[in-house]
Amino acid sequence: MMLFNRRTPLWACALLALATPAWGNNGYRLWLGESQDLPAVSTIEMSGDSPTLRIAADELRRSLPTLPTPVLLAKANDPALASLRLDTRSMGAEGYRVQRANVGGREVMLVTGTSDVGVLYGAFALLRHINSGGDATQIALASAPQTKLRILNHWDNLDGVVERGYAGQSLWDWWLLPDYKDPRYADYARANASLGINGTVLNNVNAKAESLTAPYIAKAAALADVFRPYGIKVYLSVRFSAPIEIGGLKTADPRDPQVAAWWKAKADEIYRAIPDFGGFLVKANSEGQPGPRDYDASHADGANTLAAAVAPHGGIVMWRAFVYADTDPDDRAKQAYTEFKPLDGTFADNVLVQVKNGAIDFQPREPFHPLFGAMPKTPLVMEFQITKEYLGFATHLAYLGPMFEEVLDAETGVRRGETVASVVTGKADGHRLSGMAGVANIGRDRDWSGSTFNQANWYVFGRMAWDPTLSSEAIAREWAAQTFGKDPVVIDTAVAMMMRSREAVVDYTGPLGLAHLFASGHHYGPGPWISDLGRPEWNPVYYHRADRNGIGFDRTRTGSNAVAQYAPSLAKRYANPKTTPAEDLLWFHHLPWDYKMPDGKTLWEEMVHRYDRGVSEVRAMRAQWATVKSRVDAERWEKTDTYLGIQEREALWWRDASLAYWMSINGLSLPAGSAAPQHDLEWYKQQRFPFAPGNPQ
Ligand code: GCU
Repeated sequence: MMLFNRRTPLWACALLALATPAWGNNGYRLWLGESQDLPAVSTIEMSGDSPTLRIAADELRRSLPTLPTPVLLAKANDPALASLRLDTRSMGAEGYRVQRANVGGREVMLVTGTSDVGVLYGAFALLRHINSGGDATQIALASAPQTKLRILNHWDNLDGVVERGYAGQSLWDWWLLPDYKDPRYADYARANASLGINGTVLNNVNAKAESLTAPYIAKAAALADVFRPYGIKVYLSVRFSAPIEIGGLKTADPRDPQVAAWWKAKADEIYRAIPDFGGFLVKANSEGQPGPRDYDASHADGANTLAAAVAPHGGIVMWRAFVYADTDPDDRAKQAYTEFKPLDGTFADNVLVQVKNGAIDFQPREPFHPLFGAMPKTPLVMEFQITKEYLGFATHLAYLGPMFEEVLDAETGVRRGETVASVVTGKADGHRLSGMAGVANIGRDRDWSGSTFNQANWYVFGRMAWDPTLSSEAIAREWAAQTFGKDPVVIDTAVAMMMRSREAVVDYTGPLGLAHLFASGHHYGPGPWISDLGRPEWNPVYYHRADRNGIGFDRTRTGSNAVAQYAPSLAKRYANPKTTPAEDLLWFHHLPWDYKMPDGKTLWEEMVHRYDRGVSEVRAMRAQWATVKSRVDAERWEKTDTYLGIQEREALWWRDASLAYWMSINGLSLPAGSAAPQHDLEWYKQQRFPFAPGNPQ
């Protein structure tokens, strides 16, 4: 063994560091290359200069292995490239091309785009290609983003607490901003730029008016300065009643000229500090937040007043459709559609309506939101939740790629071939604006996202926001290769675990279309018995409607008729339990416990089977992870293994608590071969988690 002392030459230390597999890897580097410490081996040249081009060159110098030809970074309009006659139209404003080319009589690997940020995306695409095992001799990469706005939504409060955050405190140190710009802000921007994410909403949708005061605008401006060269714009969530709270007005009625003038002046003030400010995100008349409905004005009135304020500066408004009212006795799943569909065509040009992937709230599985396809005159932003509020927080392994893919690939049934993805990209209806938003899972934890595998959810969101037609499995593979290195055994194992993981969570928390069976507030453990919360739709019993005879929410004509919100072909399919996919069965139907499933099992037997399957899938993931122990650095392996142990215990808890409850309702016994719950129902009901993370107190 070589011992180091003060006389050990530095080169020897460096060589040893290179030759030794990482003992520890705390995950800080994310997917940005295992080889960052390697000396520069490729020649990287720039034609022209800008902060963004310099970042692109630095990224390549940091982690691009040797290429046979020098790499040249240049914008497509660079005179040096004139003879190549590049097709700039296909690149659009942010796309790239990476190809071998003869420039000035020399063979180079050209990385180009029509904008600086396009070149940066090209540099990251080259790194991704090489570092995920792509052929270094056959490089011809070309891509342009399919959505215009690719945005993270941080639900970060000004006191540093992240709502539904499971990776520590907020990254933004509001207290020390604008003076101290933590170097981590630039690392955050690098990671996002590597995926093509081009916007970030800094603060919680449950916004405080203070975020629009001068000191906080200055703090946001400092972050915007760091993010700008990475192509990332800053946005703010705004509180609709801010004109009253910090503006001293008597009303926030969006039709009041003084209110409109206040928003205009506020926007002007923000743009003076942040000339490329992106715009506003608004949660209005939702879960107690103020909004235009408080004044009998519509959501469009509200959105358009804010839109008029940012329009002269090129800004936009993302207005959330996550509304449901305690005064409305109708099925919660129907309310957003009922409220927003009639407003189609009444929003200003720079308004996008932001719609969660499903009609309830980020459940492990929901059918796609019926607003997709129903508002052709309005650009709709897809809102996914990357942070796993309902999928086991940071601890449970659940790769969300298959869930995003399932929703994006869903056919709306409105027109032949129209998918949710084609609505979101704006292609279905020819919109100028389009976007995808992800509620971030990022905090101050060393590994950013609370676990190594949670990083993959940030990654897959960014990749799918860029191109919603990419396959979740292919993305898992490129992520695993960049995160764990090139060992094919590790990559195959990680991908296999990832691809089964989300379905396992569905199975042990809410199979067959059941939803919202979570304990109150924290949304971690099971609570299907809960029935005492203030509003009916806050109670799990509202969603499952189980009684002695059956279970499920009747959303057909005999029930809430939510099926009618889908296009006729889908409405017809969902109206009949025989043609409804098993995955969504109890979302749309209330069925007897002895309802016959296609394979001959009763509904009850199928439910139990799926709960059991969920637990055994977690056991299988854990066993798979054990096989790569010697191939993964100890730090990340141990943490993942520990988390899988927690997940195994808790999957069983979910299964046992749920089955104990269902049996108390239906009086049935478990099918042969299925183990009895470990405790009685009362024990599960007594479990308390007063300080669970992420839960607003
Ligand atoms: C969920 C979540 C809240 C959040 C809300 C929203 O209900 O539990 O914490 O504020 O979604 O999306 O606005």
